[in-house]
Amino acid sequence: MLCFEHVSFTYPGSEDAIFRDFSLRAEKGGFISVIGESGSGKTTLFRLLNGLEQPQEGSITIDGTPIPEKKNFASYMPQQDLLFPWLSVEQNVMLPMTIRKQPKELCRKKALEMLKKVGLAGWEKRYPRELSGGMRQRVSFARTLCAGGELLLLDEPFSALDSITRISLQEWLRDQWNHLEKTILFITHDVEEAVFLSEKILVLTGRPVTGLTEFEVPLPRERTREMLLRPDIAELKEQLIALLRSEATE
Ligand SMILES: Nc1ncnc2c1ncn2[C@@H]1O[C@H](COP(=O)(O)OP(=O)(O)OP(=O)(O)O)[C@@H](O)[C@H]1O
Ligand SMILES: [Mg+2]
Repeated sequence: MLCFEHVSFTYPGSEDAIFRDFSLRAEKGGFISVIGESGSGKTTLFRLLNGLEQPQEGSITIDGTPIPEKKNFASYMPQQDLLFPWLSVEQNVMLPMTIRKQPKELCRKKALEMLKKVGLAGWEKRYPRELSGGMRQRVSFARTLCAGGELLLLDEPFSALDSITRISLQEWLRDQWNHLEKTILFITHDVEEAVFLSEKILVLTGRPVTGLTEFEVPLPRERTREMLLRPDIAELKEQLIALLRSEATE
């Protein structure tokens, strides 16, 4: 169980609060998307959750343990890919595993398998500067999945991809989640992507954020893109768009 209780947060040196008296509860094992307009605080939510920022008030806990006391529980894929330019693709993906002192050959094997899954077989020895934006994003995604946390924090992982690559990685990620005991929190701007991927969608509301609106996605665990055409799903998408629009004009 992931729990924010009465969290208030302002970036040091800034006047404007990003979160005020914000609470959130999420069950383990879910696939939860977070949407909200640009600048609303989605990335900040992840930074708080990963312990990169500390709230001035309130508490953030996982299974009752405060975040600062938890170790290696989350793998974070930031919005900027943050690949190390002096490391090859393969070395970048291996890094979090080698930091945890896993045997090098095992790390390499896992890295190569994951790179293959994201469509980058043959690129292992190249360097980030030789890759396109979408390829770098996939390397970063592979690194996050290899890192091994039970909570995956994915901040717009597919935003730089063309629509076909994006759709196939969405299908693949959904399939992975079906088989893995992981909790995924997924930030996206794309309403359809949120609906296809998640069990639950959270829309951050207010400036500063004081709450959220939750939507359950009524799709089965095994799902296909055709299901997005169902009338109840079309209705859900419209509701989300209407809410985002009203938040943007407030
Ligand atoms: N390091 C920082 N110092 C001060 N203010 C910051 C910092 N990082 C972000 N902010 C501010 O916090 C607010 C929320 O930013 P955040 O990055 O969480 O938004 P977001 O919802 O992820 O937006 P986007 O969809 O564009 O990625 C913005 O107004 C931003 O200017
Ligand atoms: Mg962001």
